[in-house]
Amino acid sequence: MSTNTTEPTLSNSTTNQTSIQIKNVTVIGAGTMGNGICHVFANHGYQVSMMDVSQDAMNRAMSTIAKNMDRQVSKQLMTEAEKEAALGRIATYTDMSEALKDADLVIEAATENIDLKMKIFESIDAHAPEKCILATNTSSISITRISSHTKRMGKVIGMHFMNPVPVMKLVEVINGYATDKATTNAIIELTKAIGKVPCVVNDYPGFISNRILLPMINEAILSLQEGVAGIEEIDTIMKLGMAHPMGPLQLADFIGLDTCYSILNVLHIGYGNPKYAPATLLANMVQAGYLGVKSGEGFYKHTPGSKELVVSERFTKTH
Ligand SMILES: NC(=O)c1ccc[n+]([C@@H]2O[C@H](COP(=O)([O-])OP(=O)(O)OC[C@H]3O[C@@H](n4cnc5c(N)ncnc54)[C@H](O)[C@@H]3O)[C@@H](O)[C@H]2O)c1
Repeated sequence: MSTNTTEPTLSNSTTNQTSIQIKNVTVIGAGTMGNGICHVFANHGYQVSMMDVSQDAMNRAMSTIAKNMDRQVSKQLMTEAEKEAALGRIATYTDMSEALKDADLVIEAATENIDLKMKIFESIDAHAPEKCILATNTSSISITRISSHTKRMGKVIGMHFMNPVPVMKLVEVINGYATDKATTNAIIELTKAIGKVPCVVNDYPGFISNRILLPMINEAILSLQEGVAGIEEIDTIMKLGMAHPMGPLQLADFIGLDTCYSILNVLHIGYGNPKYAPATLLANMVQAGYLGVKSGEGFYKHTPGSKELVVSERFTKTH
């Protein structure tokens, strides 16, 4: 546990511009990513405002955070008192203007939908204090396009956390076309202050992480579709041969096949290059509702509570 004992303060030492102080962080969206982001900031001493349109989602998020912190306590990574203090730093809101009142930084982690994100950013821009930096955790939507829906393009940036947020070290920091240097520097320092490693990239479809990861997953699905090898062979080759912690088909199930499909479409349309076209097998599985872990079945069958890797019967049938 690396809770800050001092007040978190960022000074922008690499430019001459006024330093940007970040103490209050508002997270929009309390789903898988939003709850992890709130967890990490609260652990590091920041005041966190969690906002979601669904009170149920926030209740679930608070109980997930408490459960994950319990695990840290049992591993002696934090004390019970530190856990209570961290949970006490998170306030929940369903009203956007209330949640943004004192924000120095907003991190938007709502559902991946372009129209929804544009509306959310217009609303954040209208309610957040003028000095506030607006970050988005989008996996694939253009930061520049999102920023064009605000009157502060220089203060809009991508902060792409990885799942599960409390565990994964990387934050891909994405500069929009108009992002100010001071904004980037503040986010780099902040990312280090919460114990993560920032990697700065520019705003092109898929950024770096998904531009490289998704074509690999798609290639694995194409190989399966063409009968080059079966699911276990493909995943084993990538695990044992390339030292990947899990195979690309298992990873696709974890990410969600609908998410994989939508990111590949962003790459395909964004670059206008057929090499990014999603495999037909992937499109079929998404349309039929075989989405991976979230629906219980994708390339593998997922039983809640079981860690056993069982290939979906649809791929083992001989007829
Ligand atoms: N899940 C991942 O592995 C992953 C990894 C990196 C980035 N991301 C990105 O993070 C973002 C969130 O993904 P997630 O997996 O946490 O989604 P999720 O579906 O688990 O959660 C989204 C939350 O947003 C809330 N929401 C919807 N509309 C809202 C609004 N108008 N205002 C406030 N809240 C609203 C929903 O109620 C829900 O609780 C997406 O942009 C996604 O692309 C996801």
